[in-house]
Amino acid sequence: MTITDKNIKELFPILSGDMIYLDSAATAQKPMCVVDAVRDFYLNNNANPMRGMYDLSIRATDDYEASRQVVADFINAADSSEIVFTRNATESLNLVADSFGAALTEGDEILVATSEHHSNFLPWKKAAERSGAMIRFLDCLPDGTMTASMLREALTPATKIFSVAQISNVFGRVNPIAEYAAVCHKNGTLICVDASQSVPHIAVDVRSLDADFLAFSGHKLYGPMGIGVLYGKKKLLKKLPPFLRGGEMIDYVSKEKTVFAELPHKFEAGTVSAADAAGLRAAIGFVNDVGFEQIEERELHLTKLAFEGMKKIPHVNILGADNAEDHHGILTFTIDDVHPHDIAAIFAEDNVCIRAGHHCAQPLHILLGIPSTVRASLAFYNTDEDIEKFLGVLSTIRSRMGYE
Ligand SMILES: Cc1ncc(COP(=O)(O)O)c(C=O)c1O
Repeated sequence: MTITDKNIKELFPILSGDMIYLDSAATAQKPMCVVDAVRDFYLNNNANPMRGMYDLSIRATDDYEASRQVVADFINAADSSEIVFTRNATESLNLVADSFGAALTEGDEILVATSEHHSNFLPWKKAAERSGAMIRFLDCLPDGTMTASMLREALTPATKIFSVAQISNVFGRVNPIAEYAAVCHKNGTLICVDASQSVPHIAVDVRSLDADFLAFSGHKLYGPMGIGVLYGKKKLLKKLPPFLRGGEMIDYVSKEKTVFAELPHKFEAGTVSAADAAGLRAAIGFVNDVGFEQIEERELHLTKLAFEGMKKIPHVNILGADNAEDHHGILTFTIDDVHPHDIAAIFAEDNVCIRAGHHCAQPLHILLGIPSTVRASLAFYNTDEDIEKFLGVLSTIRSRMGYE
């Protein structure tokens, strides 16, 4: 499918007005086919999956499992049983940290990048506190660079797992995950990848990355809120204890004994989000139709337009790489003398949606010595006109705050 400025408004009706949406790193807008898929599940397939012998429940189960297969194909997992549906990336990362963390003991080490979203830090902090393991941090350079040799230096024989984002939600730079994985595996360390910000922008292949675990949310990938994914290598997931307990995750229960279900059901306690899984399936179908070649081309063009325009505006400081190619639609910045919340409020006044704050990456902001920043984040559904409007507002901020 070819994306044009004209069909974007039909595909994403929420974008058809005057509002300029530049907060896609927080959540992406949904194409009509996703809304239709969720609606269709409730209208035609709604029953509790995996629980009934009747036709409707079988249809609901088949629909849910079809979504799992689509996700497996999307990230090139070897087997659909390696795909666990969760609520979001946060829950996926909590699952790994909790279940993998259960086997950690004093003397073990967990390594996380300082640039991580709190969702990929706090679950590991809890795992360390519970097990007595030590949590250590890999700092990036001021421009967000974190090379495999920096990782090699940080690993010790005690490092059991390294958890890191493929694309930081502040810098937008792609981290060299395959290189990290090679370094980790040579050291006997597992690698857990937070792909929340990468799956919407680049093709992610868990096998070529050699990721042991990989997490993302459906809602940043044009899918519904309420569905997330955890990928794990089968041999690893098999060894992990369940995270949540309850219905549907068991084979047998008596007062004395519990036998857990096979993968992936052992990790999916309670009624599943089948309609959201159907929505995610539609989102992935849509992304495949548009194609990553087109997505990357459009997003790079828009990122360049924004980046180059921002560089021309005095007092605007962009965090991260000094080239548009390493931003993947994420432009985090400050303006000299103006508080980020004032910047965001001015943009909001002019109907442009951007974000201000620490973007759930407070340890990174502390490392950089900046309390908060502003982030504009785009997707392939943005247009040149959106970027021009953004730059127009940006160029007025200091004067609207009373500066020359
Ligand atoms: C890099 C990264 N990881 C994790 C998350 C958490 O995603 P969710 O809130 O959907 O669980 C986000 C959300 O902004 C993110 O940007």
